[in-house]
Amino acid sequence: MTDTASGSPDYRDSGLQFSPDFLIGSATASYQIEGAVHEDGRGPSIWDTFSHTPGKIVNGDTGDVADDHYRRWEQDLDLMAELGLEAYRFSIAWPRIQLTGSGPANRAGLDFYSRLVDGLLDRGIRPIATLYHWDLPQALEDAGGWRNRETALRFAEYAGIVGAALGDRVHTWTTLNEPWCSAYLGYGSGAHAPGLTSPLGALQAVHHLNLAHGLALQALRSSVTKADAQYSVTLNFHVIRGDDDSSPEAIRRIDALANRAFTGPMLRGQYPADLLEDTAGITDWSFVLPGDLEEIRQPVDVLGVNYYSTVTVKMWDGVSARSAADGHKDVGGSPWPGSADVEFLVQPGPYTDMGWNIAPDGLEELLVSLKEQFPSQPLMITENGAAFPDRVEDGRVHDAKRVDYLRRHFTAAHRALQRGVDLRGYLVWSLLDNFEWGYGYTKRFGIVRVDYETQQRIVKDSGWFVAELARAKRIPA
Ligand code: NOJ
Repeated sequence: MTDTASGSPDYRDSGLQFSPDFLIGSATASYQIEGAVHEDGRGPSIWDTFSHTPGKIVNGDTGDVADDHYRRWEQDLDLMAELGLEAYRFSIAWPRIQLTGSGPANRAGLDFYSRLVDGLLDRGIRPIATLYHWDLPQALEDAGGWRNRETALRFAEYAGIVGAALGDRVHTWTTLNEPWCSAYLGYGSGAHAPGLTSPLGALQAVHHLNLAHGLALQALRSSVTKADAQYSVTLNFHVIRGDDDSSPEAIRRIDALANRAFTGPMLRGQYPADLLEDTAGITDWSFVLPGDLEEIRQPVDVLGVNYYSTVTVKMWDGVSARSAADGHKDVGGSPWPGSADVEFLVQPGPYTDMGWNIAPDGLEELLVSLKEQFPSQPLMITENGAAFPDRVEDGRVHDAKRVDYLRRHFTAAHRALQRGVDLRGYLVWSLLDNFEWGYGYTKRFGIVRVDYETQQRIVKDSGWFVAELARAKRIPA
């Protein structure tokens, strides 16, 4: 995941062919699209609290209504069917299932997802369910949230409930989405809910999320009845590059915190020794109890990879002005416990509307690097996509930049396949424009446009591009 070879190709290819079983679909997450936050007995989540706290979200936006998907789900499934998407990655809102994160299941909440899964299967779309895409029940946060070990135990109980209810039909189960964000943005930088700035809290969250993953996978495996169901977790790997002589040290530190802090315990059954050393000034990691690492290390059938851009780092010399290019550093503290002295440099463009650099070579490099690190581990791109400001012209959205972004990244994925990576599919983020966390509704990632006034959906050119890819398994001209 470090420096790539120079002389990288252009990546703007067309005509490249994927195999018929290469899965092409799209992804969303509950809080970002559902709205209906009081419907059917849903309890409050940390994102309800956070988004209703003044100053946390651009324009004071909240997920109260979002895409109103909770009411319009059938129409949205019809849209996916019209596009011929083969898989849909959605997340289940824990506070719809257990209002306070523990106790009996809320039947109405389970029924919503049960209808959704049936609706997908009726349309021939493979359901890929994520158990946790950041909407922690507020009651659990009040008891310490991911800083508290108890949350991992509650998560396993929730996993068992959902596994028993939907486990006869869901194709692929994902425990966590991007625990990096939950831990470091939620408890480190404070840019995400619950908005705390505690280096110790962030590291406790890392471990309890890892534990939650391991316990939930076991709970799923014993409650799910579909014999060929698959199990996974989705990580947002950091592709880290260097700039000067101090960069190897900075790369090592960020790789430990961002990548190996999760793959270490989940896939190898241990925390990296250098991570423990780097953070020794913050904690002795005594919250890792005997037996935890065995619980965490569970085989995953497919490892979910979310990829958007790269970072370039070096050690701060302590004197010169720092470049604040992390893209996550704009709020609160540092997301990097024990490594606030690592500097994130401005990336060479072009950029998306998030200010993230467009680097398809980073995706190829990441996939190849994962194959080298975990040779027998199948992979799936569970998110890739781009925010750009779109315009409606004569009822259409000609989002050429998003099409170009996707073309380059599908080309990168194809190149990784050619290099022997066991890549099973590619899910585009996102089906719909939606609530982009701290940025509210100002950033549009959808391949389908949502008019937030009328809730009207318009398939963008990128939506038709993905439709053609799913149909022909070939990158369109
Ligand atoms: C990662 C997250 O999983 C998703 O919720 C978010 O909207 C996208 N990346 C874009 O930032």
